[in-house]
Amino acid sequence: MSSTTAAAARQTTWLITGASRGIGLELVRQLLAAPSNLVIAACRAPSTASALADLKAGAKGALHVVQLDVADFAGIRALPGVIAPILAGRGLDYLVNNAGILKGDTALTLDAAVLLETLRTNTVGPALLTAACAPLLDAGGRKTVLNVSSGLGSIAGAGGFPGTGPRAVASYSMSKAALNMFTYKLKMEKPEWVAITLAPGWVKTDLGGADAALEVADSVRGILKVVTEATVADSGKYLRWDGAVLPW
Ligand SMILES: NC(=O)c1ccc[n+]([C@@H]2O[C@H](COP(=O)([O-])OP(=O)(O)OC[C@H]3O[C@@H](n4cnc5c(N)ncnc54)[C@H](OP(=O)(O)O)[C@@H]3O)[C@@H](O)[C@H]2O)c1
Repeated sequence: MSSTTAAAARQTTWLITGASRGIGLELVRQLLAAPSNLVIAACRAPSTASALADLKAGAKGALHVVQLDVADFAGIRALPGVIAPILAGRGLDYLVNNAGILKGDTALTLDAAVLLETLRTNTVGPALLTAACAPLLDAGGRKTVLNVSSGLGSIAGAGGFPGTGPRAVASYSMSKAALNMFTYKLKMEKPEWVAITLAPGWVKTDLGGADAALEVADSVRGILKVVTEATVADSGKYLRWDGAVLPW
């Protein structure tokens, strides 16, 4: 084995959805700081993802940008074929289901189309992408799936979030509660994998807003510590960005 091939074989491989901005973009940025990471950043519109393009320019081949709309099931099914040549025989160590949407509504004002779009993006897309990537995850060393959930997916914790309250963002909260259950089902089906559902905190992004409590860099630093230190003993857990266990 040449030294270049040996170095590639030791790389840790990541697939991150919703990488054009916010938490997804910062995950890519922080992962690229370690030369041992090979990052595949998936976004809806690579041609307009200028921040990702800037990162790619300085990434020395460690960043690959691929197109993926997580609400497009055909695109999800095709994705393993798109990323297999990038992985070049390596498995996928980490799948990060990060892409998500939030639309404000309540239980009695929700619009069916909004609820379905939210479930499609925040729950069904991550579930189908995980299934599509299962053979690549099986071939990976870490076999880790990180579902970026929300504290708003917690029924036990409902009401504890400033500005939201127990009635607000019903469709979103339902989609994240379902994502949490998907994570638990995944742990039961794949005991050799590490499946984590994680709340990133209230973060200053387009989704979180400027009044949010956390800088995106701090949340992502915590998320990466939690996910890279997680073992199968942590699989099926609902964790916060700082590692605290959340109530379901
Ligand atoms: N910020 C917070 O306070 C907070 C709190 C709890 C949980 N979260 C969760 O954290 C994750 C990231 O949120 P964020 O704060 O970074 O939000 P953000 O700044 O609004 O970014 C959302 C990302 O998701 C992508 N996305 C949305 N729909 C997509 C689709 N159908 N296909 C592919 N990509 C799609 C967006 O891509 P485009 O650029 O193409 O729109 C964007 O890259 C979400 O799952 C969110 O629910 C955030």
